[in-house]
Amino acid sequence: MLILGIESSCDETAAALVEDGHVVLSNVVASQIKTHRGFGGVVPELASREHLRNIGWVVRQSFLDAGKTQEEIDGIAVTNGPGLIGSLLVGVSFAKAMAYSLKKPLVAVNHTEGHIYSAFIENPDVEYPLLALVVSGGHTSLIYSTKPGFYQSIGRARDDAAGEALDKLAKFLGLGYPGGPLIDRLSQNGNPRRFSFSIPKISDGSLDFSFSGFKTAALRHIQLSGIKPRRSGGKITKIALDLVTSYQWAIVDTLVRQTQKAEARLHPKSILLVGGVACNSLLRRTFKRVFEEEPQQRAGADPVRVYYPSPILTTDNAAMIAAAGSPKVQHADPLDLTLNASADLRLC
Ligand code: KG4
Ligand code: ZN
Repeated sequence: MLILGIESSCDETAAALVEDGHVVLSNVVASQIKTHRGFGGVVPELASREHLRNIGWVVRQSFLDAGKTQEEIDGIAVTNGPGLIGSLLVGVSFAKAMAYSLKKPLVAVNHTEGHIYSAFIENPDVEYPLLALVVSGGHTSLIYSTKPGFYQSIGRARDDAAGEALDKLAKFLGLGYPGGPLIDRLSQNGNPRRFSFSIPKISDGSLDFSFSGFKTAALRHIQLSGIKPRRSGGKITKIALDLVTSYQWAIVDTLVRQTQKAEARLHPKSILLVGGVACNSLLRRTFKRVFEEEPQQRAGADPVRVYYPSPILTTDNAAMIAAAGSPKVQHADPLDLTLNASADLRLC
């Protein structure tokens, strides 16, 4: 089964060819970072235009890299939400046109489900039940699944997503865009204890996340300590370095604590750390320690396996969309082209 995946929900135009749900024959990603860098965030109108410019050659390149022809595919999987509506529409319209002209089945994939499937590409026998922490620029969710295609939301961001919180502080301090990887790198040399951030208490017992309080606290620290945004090309001060390090530490601590609570309640066999922020080195290190190393030292603890996809599969890509779409293609109606994009599509 050979599937073409197409992804255009935010600022990456991506296409991939995946065989049997997990063998990646090609994985092409056209990033728009340069277009949006000057604005410190994604500008939706510019993103749609860039997708339009790139989608044709990105899809063509995915066939060239894989050494396959369009006639050889068994179906097309496309992200239909959640995301920026203009961006989504480019991928969805392109996929519909291709499916119509090639007479191949077309299936819709929820972007969050795509991120979950990114873990299956390198580890096709991930065991259920699984608990996934999907953590990116647009989402922070804990999702529990007992079998493929069935999802239960255990916790979600009530305000900013974790990646968005990192990107916003980096923008405010003039560090650059996207902020997540920059803060990750800078924090190797900072002091995580210099600034305190109190962890928000969600009083209804849910495993939701809230990061906007950290942003307010960071602004207060900036005002009280007189921290100035970095001038273009200037050096970052030690105090600003310590602030971003403490801020990242607080965000990672929240993500780990909520995942630990979910794990204690649900006892999954597998934990998946997926989405762009899953590239974060402190988050990966802490997950490894908390869920793999420490439990092994406790006699009688049930083993849980933790999966961290490679960075190219962790940030937005179309291989994960093809992987998630693969089981759906067998049941797709080949002539159904009613599929549409939805900016706030929910997985569960
Ligand atoms: O999954 P993704 O590519 O797009 C969305 O679905 O949002 O995630 C992008 C997010 C951005 O907020 C970026 O700052 C963050 O992932 N990110 C990181 C790292 N690499 C990317 N955050 C923290 N540490 C990183 N190493
Ligand atoms: Zn994503």
